[in-house]
Amino acid sequence: VKHTIASIPGDGIGPEVIEEAIKVLRAVEEIHGNLQFEIDSYDWNCKRYLETGRMMPEDGIKTLAPYDAILFGAVGSPEVPDHISVWELILPIRREFQQYINLRPIKLLKGIESPLANKGIEDIDFVVVRENTEGEYSNSGGRLHVGTPYEVVVQNSVFTKMGSERVIKYAYELARKRGSKHLSVATKSNAINFSMPFWDEVTKEVGVDYKEIEPKFYHIDALVAFFVSKPEIFDVVVGSNLFGDILTDLGAAISGGLGTAPSGNINPEKKYPSMFEAIHGSAPDIAGKGIANPIAQIWSTSLMLEHLGYPEMAKIIVDGIEDTLVDGKVRTPDLGGTASTTEFADKIIENIRKY
Ligand code: NAI
Ligand code: MG
Repeated sequence: VKHTIASIPGDGIGPEVIEEAIKVLRAVEEIHGNLQFEIDSYDWNCKRYLETGRMMPEDGIKTLAPYDAILFGAVGSPEVPDHISVWELILPIRREFQQYINLRPIKLLKGIESPLANKGIEDIDFVVVRENTEGEYSNSGGRLHVGTPYEVVVQNSVFTKMGSERVIKYAYELARKRGSKHLSVATKSNAINFSMPFWDEVTKEVGVDYKEIEPKFYHIDALVAFFVSKPEIFDVVVGSNLFGDILTDLGAAISGGLGTAPSGNINPEKKYPSMFEAIHGSAPDIAGKGIANPIAQIWSTSLMLEHLGYPEMAKIIVDGIEDTLVDGKVRTPDLGGTASTTEFADKIIENIRKY
C-alpha cells in the first residue's frame, strides 16, 4: 500500500524535528513490510515569505489537496509578524480542508515526571477534542467610537448546529472507542447565556445515540482546576475553540511540556487531507543547535499513522518513545539530558525496531 504525504517543515526547529519524523516513517516502512510513503517536501515558511511576499504559493491549497496527509513542522520567525505566518499558512489549511477536529492526547509518558508529581499525581491519560473552525475565533465583530471614551468593541462567537454537532459526535465516538463511560464537556452555560446553553443542548441531543456514555458538564473555570487537582478523572474532554485551546495548553503543561506534545488537525470524513503537527512553535531560541526534542513531532506522526489506518504501527512508535524515556540514558536537554535531536531520535527508532 502506498500513501502520499506532503511535508511542510517550516522554520526554526521545524525542519530539525521533521527530518527525524521522516526517519521514523522509513523505519515503519521496513517493519510493516507492505507500506510505502511517498513524501514530497514544501518549503513554505517565513524565509519564503521574505523573498516572495507569500507564505505559500497562490495555488498552495490545490497542491496539497490530493495528498493522504500533511506532516507539518512549525512556522514563525522573528522577522515576520506571527499573525502572517499563522493566518496565511496554518489557518487556511485547517479551514479549506475542514479539519474541524483538533485532537490532542494528554498523556504522561512513562519515564517523564509531571510537574504535579509532588502531589502524588502519576495517572494522566486522556484526550482533548477541540473544535477547530468556529466558535469564539470568528472574524465577526467590530469597534465603534475608536479612541474616544465611548469606544464599544464587540467580538461575536459563532456556533452553528452542524459545527457543534459534528465535533461533539466525534468526541462521543472517541469515548466509545476508548470504552469510556463518560464524556467531559467544557461549558459556561451559567454565564454565557446563548452559545453555551446551545452547546449543552446539542451535547444531550447527540448523546441520545450514545446511551452508555454519560455527558458530564464542567464550567470551564472549574474544569481547569480539575485538570491540575485530579487529572485522573478524565478520559475524553470536548470543548469549543477557545476553551479547547486553553485546555490543551494546560494539558501539555501537566504532562511533560511542549517538547513532547503532539496534535492532529483532522477531517474525519477523509474527504480532505488531515494535518499532523507538534504543538510547539519554531523555537528560535534553540534553532540550529540540534537540541530540539523530536518526541512531539514523532508522536504526531504516530497520530497520522493511526488516522491512515495503522493503529498497530502508531502504537509501536509510542511504545518506542516510552522505552527510550524509561531507559533514560539518552534524552535532549529539555528533559534533563545532553543528547542531540538526532541521537535521541535514533535511540527511539532503535527501540521501535524491537517490536
Ligand atoms: P515555541 O513553542 O517555539 O517555544 C517556547 C519554548 O519552548 C522555547 O523556550 C523553546 O525553546 C521551547 N521548545 C519548544 N519546542 C521545543 C522542543 N521540541 N524541544 C525543546 N524545547 C522546545 O513558542 P514561542 O517561542 O512562543 O514561538 C516561537 C515562534 O513559533 C513564533 O514565531 C510563534 O508564532 C511560532 N509558533 C508556531 C506554531 C505553529 O507553527 N503551529 C505554534 C506556536 C508558535
Ligand atoms: Mg494554543
